[in-house]
Amino acid sequence: MAFAESLADFYAKGGRIEDWWLIAHPASLPPGRGRYFRVAARHSGGDRGMPNDIRYVAAWRRNDPAIERDAIALWTEMKVLPPNIRAEERAKELVAVAYDGDRLIAVTTAQIHLHAPVRQRFAFMRLLVRPEAEKSGLAVPLTVACREELREWSLANPHEQVAGYAAVITAAGYGAKPVLNAGLTLVGYTPDGHQIRTYWWDHFKIPV
Ligand SMILES: CC(C)(COP(=O)(O)OP(=O)(O)OC[C@H]1O[C@@H](n2cnc3c(N)ncnc32)[C@H](O)[C@@H]1OP(=O)(O)O)[C@@H](O)C(=O)NCCC(=O)NCCS
Repeated sequence: MAFAESLADFYAKGGRIEDWWLIAHPASLPPGRGRYFRVAARHSGGDRGMPNDIRYVAAWRRNDPAIERDAIALWTEMKVLPPNIRAEERAKELVAVAYDGDRLIAVTTAQIHLHAPVRQRFAFMRLLVRPEAEKSGLAVPLTVACREELREWSLANPHEQVAGYAAVITAAGYGAKPVLNAGLTLVGYTPDGHQIRTYWWDHFKIPV
């Protein structure tokens, strides 16, 4: 499965953190793409004490029952889903997740929406990290994993006309940089003042 190799295995084979994403995503690496992976890897936890056995696992539209079950348990335990959202439905929106051993410690989900100012559809991601795993350096590599999983799917499904991935930053204290390490660029604000950030796929062409 894509990017299921653990960092521990990677290091054991003499790998360097700078090359982690190059190895973990060989299929999703168009020419010239390495720069982005290296930027993400440099800021990931490999050099900040992140536990080395974190596994990043792809989940977008793969209907993996074990990952869905673990995510539903995580959302239920953390009581994070709004009352009108069914966990089973949200589980169908999983993109990439992080496991520490057998324990699910972070998830990304996404929904495809039109971003009206540029008249294109983006996969809007969400990120949830278990409190004990916060600030451990996995948020950026997981966001990159989410991005690359969506990119691969988008390349394989051009009829979906998804132009890139995006995020609305609702967590307080985040978003000081115009361009986040995972490439998300500030492009505007929601009516209630949250940052909207987007990232375009290189392969996407705007119909002109
Ligand atoms: C907010 C939260 C995800 C931060 O987790 P964390 O592991 O402590 O994150 P870190 O501070 O180590 O790293 C944040 C990085 O994640 C990335 N990221 C991607 N999407 C993000 C998002 N929606 N919110 C915050 N960070 C996001 C950014 O690239 C940021 O990196 P950069 O600023 O270095 O470029 C976590 O506290 C959490 O799950 N909170 C509850 C749910 C929530 O609020 N989710 C985010 C909604 S916007």
